[in-house]
Amino acid sequence: MTTARSTATDSAMPGQVTVPPFAVISGAQVQQALQGREPEIVDLVEATYRVHGAGDSVNPPSYFLRFPDRPTSRIIALPASIGGEVRVDGLKWISSFPQNVAAGIPRASAVLILNDHDTGYPFACLESSIISATRTAASAALAADWLSRGRRRPTHVGFIGVGLIARYIHTFLAGTGWSFDEVGVHDLSYQSAAGFRGYLEQSDIAGRITVHDSAEELVRTSDLVVFATVAGEPHVTDPSWFQHHPLVLHVSLRDLAPEILLASTNLVDDVDHCLKANTSPHLAEQLTGNRDFLLGTLDDVMTGRRTVPADTTVVFSPFGLGVLDLAVGKYVYDEVSRSGELHVIDDFFHERRRYG
Ligand SMILES: NC(=O)c1ccc[n+]([C@@H]2O[C@H](COP(=O)([O-])OP(=O)(O)OC[C@H]3O[C@@H](n4cnc5c(N)ncnc54)[C@H](O)[C@@H]3O)[C@@H](O)[C@H]2O)c1
Repeated sequence: MTTARSTATDSAMPGQVTVPPFAVISGAQVQQALQGREPEIVDLVEATYRVHGAGDSVNPPSYFLRFPDRPTSRIIALPASIGGEVRVDGLKWISSFPQNVAAGIPRASAVLILNDHDTGYPFACLESSIISATRTAASAALAADWLSRGRRRPTHVGFIGVGLIARYIHTFLAGTGWSFDEVGVHDLSYQSAAGFRGYLEQSDIAGRITVHDSAEELVRTSDLVVFATVAGEPHVTDPSWFQHHPLVLHVSLRDLAPEILLASTNLVDDVDHCLKANTSPHLAEQLTGNRDFLLGTLDDVMTGRRTVPADTTVVFSPFGLGVLDLAVGKYVYDEVSRSGELHVIDDFFHERRRYG
């Protein structure tokens, strides 16, 4: 292995097609490249949604690998291609094994492969649980900003399900200028609630912290509600909890009964992606037989094609797009490359001559 500044894009002379060097980027390097850059990453995610919305991307359906002997676990493949300034292809391969948490290791683990636009060669493998959490949190912060325009900016945030993703979302909200009078916390696990509370107490931006025994109490006292549980089916079913019309970031996708969505303004990141795999929007489509309950995508709001009414509950359900992983992954690659710390695996692609 060598440490190099050369990159997949600058290794060739103009017009010359060569095999790019192959690099491996560790979680420590990913974290260093992304930490403290929240506004920049949110801008990157916004730009990526706009490129995707304009059709300059390929983002086929995710493939869910499931196991009869481990029904709660899955590994998802997200292949994608993004144009615009990023111009890269690739694949995120992310596992979710919820029982890991009880064993003291994170639920999700992932790698991201970046493929060179011109040759198709993979040129980097990056630790990707941090990239995935980062793009998810950046998307949530972006949605909180756009969807709260034209209504009173939320001051009471409540988190239902407080694992790694909730922590990243809070970090991104705080890192993009949000502050709250009150931070509500609810989790089925006492340890998770206590761990998140500890994180909040250390961060200097938390307002008053309240741990709620019931989801109802949290929802009723929050004007920004974040769902980041691992629930497989709806556990929040009573539309009256939402009478005060909060903004809801429904990141875990399967918490809300369809009746709640039908009484709300619904935004997604991508309609075809989100109405799948028994997400709450998918259940709402099955119940009604149509997609009329959707206002549109976040990009529709950002481009002004759709306007969010002020006096309704607003629910954003982001399926999570592979193009976001590519954009954040390429950002990390470029940062690590610029710093001269790219770990290139010598001779990774070895059999290069057709006839030896
Ligand atoms: N939409 C996206 O783009 C996207 C991207 C990444 C992760 N996610 C989703 O975010 C969720 C959270 O991920 P994580 O890594 O933080 O998981 P995690 O396992 O670290 O934490 C999940 C927490 O939710 C709690 N929980 C489970 N069911 C609950 C319920 N009914 N009520 C309250 N709390 C409950 C658990 O006790 C746990 O503390 C997952 O569902 C994951 O699939 C979505």
